[in-house]
Amino acid sequence: MKELKLETRVEVYAVGELDNIYRQLYEAAFEASKKAYAPYSKFHVGAAVLLENGEILSGNNQENAAYPSGLCAERTTLFYAGARYPDAAVQILAIAAMKDGERVDLITPCGACRQVMLETEQRYNKPMKVLLCGKEEAYLVPSATALLPFCFSKSDLI
Ligand code: THU
Repeated sequence: MKELKLETRVEVYAVGELDNIYRQLYEAAFEASKKAYAPYSKFHVGAAVLLENGEILSGNNQENAAYPSGLCAERTTLFYAGARYPDAAVQILAIAAMKDGERVDLITPCGACRQVMLETEQRYNKPMKVLLCGKEEAYLVPSATALLPFCFSKSDLI
C-alpha cells in the first residue's frame, strides 16, 4: 500500500491587502450578488471574472420554481463570459455571497461549478485563479484544478 497526498495551497489576504484588480473583482462579485434572482433560497451569490482581453463581467445565481432548473452564480458567469468572448481565457474568477442584505463570510463553490471551472481552465489551457471573497478576508486559490483534485476531464475520454 502506498499513500497519495493531495495538497492545495491557498493564499489568505485581509481585504485591505488585496491588489487593485483583485479588490475590483471582490467588489464586483458582491455587487453582482445584489442582483441575484434567489426568491427560494434567499441566498444571493455573485461572481465576477477578469478576461485576458481586460473585460470584467459579472453574474449571479438564477433560481427557478423547478429547483434543479436554476443555476449557480459561477456557472451563469462563466457561461456568459464564454458566450460573449469565446476566445478570451478567464484569468480570475471572484465569488461572493450575501444573505439578508449582509455579506456572507466566504463561500466555496459547489462540485458542479468546480467541474465547469475546470473545463474553462482546460479550454484555454491557462490557470484560472479563484478569489473566494469573505467579509474580512479573501482566499486566493491558484487554479480551478487546485479546487478539484482527482477530477474527471476531457483527457479521460480519449
Ligand atoms: N449557489 C451559488 O450560486 N454558488 C455557490 O457556490 C453555492 C450555491 C446558489 C445556488 C442556489 O441558488 C443558492 O445558492 C442556494 O444554494
